Amino acid sequence: MSESFSEIAPVYDALRPLSAGDRARLDDMLAQVVLGPDDLVVEIGCGTGRLTLPLGRAVGENVRVVGVDPEEKMLEVARRKDLGGRVVWRQGTAYKLPLEDGSASLALMVMVVHLLRRRPSAFREAHRVLRIGGRLSVWTFTPGHVARFYLNEYFPSIPVIDAVRFPSISVLQRELEKAGFAKVSVEERVERSELDLAAVVDRVRGRYISTLSLLPPLEYRQGLQRLEELLAEEHERKLVQRSEWAILTATTQ
Ligand SMILES: C[S@@+](CC[C@H](N)C(=O)[O-])C[C@H]1O[C@@H](n2cnc3c(N)ncnc32)[C@H](O)[C@@H]1O
Repeated sequence: MSESFSEIAPVYDALRPLSAGDRARLDDMLAQVVLGPDDLVVEIGCGTGRLTLPLGRAVGENVRVVGVDPEEKMLEVARRKDLGGRVVWRQGTAYKLPLEDGSASLALMVMVVHLLRRRPSAFREAHRVLRIGGRLSVWTFTPGHVARFYLNEYFPSIPVIDAVRFPSISVLQRELEKAGFAKVSVEERVERSELDLAAVVDRVRGRYISTLSLLPPLEYRQGLQRLEELLAEEHERKLVQRSEWAILTATTQ
């Protein structure tokens, strides 16, 4: 299987609802910027608009918001949810954004860099579309998160596959600097949540993270079976998820 998001698109929001942590990160990011009527904000890899729509509400009506994603099926879901037409949804990739040079004040990449084969090129492209003094905010998981992910014991290949996809913070920092960003600051955040095992089983069945689609088929089936057996034994059981986020803020000069 592949990392394609076309199949998961109709159920993406149900499998990956916005968490309290997502909202807190969004609020904290916006608290650090001042945006006005001439400003444009872009979410690169916006998917179903899970974050783009709350972002659009939070920045106020005068600020233009654009969501860019290569997967038309994800964008279809986003457009359907955006009843008021608040966001301009554009098909495109992080390597070739449908925006003019220096046109954006803020760019956001959330859970996207692990999908990019050519990160440096995507960072240069984000730099191109940002104005002087503009910011790129990148949210991703740390290698520590990958090593301690709560599903690793059921799917032992997950940390092996993701060790390659999720680079160290210092690598990302260096790549952003090489792409032309003048200042790159880093924040690490640990978030804990308790998940109902029943919900976890549903998410795993729906391959809610792209890594599940990259597992050997037998390992996927056996891991899912173990989770289903646990659920049959103890329906009320919870699993603790510990997420380790890296939030990189890169500024243009
Ligand atoms: C894990 S989802 C995250 C979506 C959204 N940022 C969120 O947090 O809900 C990753 C998204 O990145 C998109 N994507 C994959 N390759 C991309 C690329 N080369 N450029 C931009 N987006 C890409 C996928 O289509 C998918 O919608």
